Amino acid sequence: MGSIVLFGPPGAGKGTQAQRIMEYTHLPQVSTGDMLRAAVKAGTAIGLEAKSYMDRGALVPDDVILGLIKERIEEDDAANGVMFDGFPRTIPQAEALSQLTEITHVLAIDVPDERIVERICGRSTCGTCGTVFHDVFNPVPEDGCGCSQYVEKRRADDTESTVLTRLGAYHEQTSPLASWYEERGLFHRVDGDRAIDEITTDLLNVLQ
Ligand code: AP5
Repeated sequence: MGSIVLFGPPGAGKGTQAQRIMEYTHLPQVSTGDMLRAAVKAGTAIGLEAKSYMDRGALVPDDVILGLIKERIEEDDAANGVMFDGFPRTIPQAEALSQLTEITHVLAIDVPDERIVERICGRSTCGTCGTVFHDVFNPVPEDGCGCSQYVEKRRADDTESTVLTRLGAYHEQTSPLASWYEERGLFHRVDGDRAIDEITTDLLNVLQ
């Protein structure tokens, strides 16, 4: 089996759906956003470079991202492919990726711009297990998160002004990838402006 790409604007639900379809694909989730946040937290050279871009909602330079990806897909758990979440985000990233691993499906979660701010500004994540929640649309259960050690985390870049910059970067630099992958017959679009379960069902149907 090759690798899968989860594609879509910020807040489309890429991370939410990755966590749900992982149990069917058995492919590890590789989120460049999570890798960058871990590097920022650890204070590595990559983290220091990436932070200024992330804080303002701009894309981190391609060479930094590709360095991270090359190392990650050498790891043992990536031998049968991975599920990329938030990567690639530019045509140079997609071109480089095509030399590193076979992509079998690009799953695009379509969400209109006007939904994005409310989704992102209501997001929280469990700091222990990483499960993604939303204050209104997907609240933390009253008896807590599945891992039973819920610690609320909110992202520094989940503010309304940063979201608008991230959305601008998506339209300018990332959305041209849709036709790049369409030309290669790999692109599958699902309507992401629906209930989380319905989207999961559609994504699994595409993969079957
Ligand atoms: P990254 O971490 O990748 O952020 P993003 O693309 O902005 O995407 P998000 O993680 O915000 O959203 P998501 O689609 O995963 O949505 P989620 O499932 O959480 O990137 C952060 C930064 O890192 C970038 O700005 C850039 O600087 C840098 N970066 C990362 N990768 C890079 C790359 N390859 N190249 C260059 N720079 C890079 O859902 C959002 C919320 O909505 C949640 O609260 C969820 O519960 C809720 N929700 C989900 N689905 C639904 C639904 N169907 N209905 C209602 N609510 C829903």
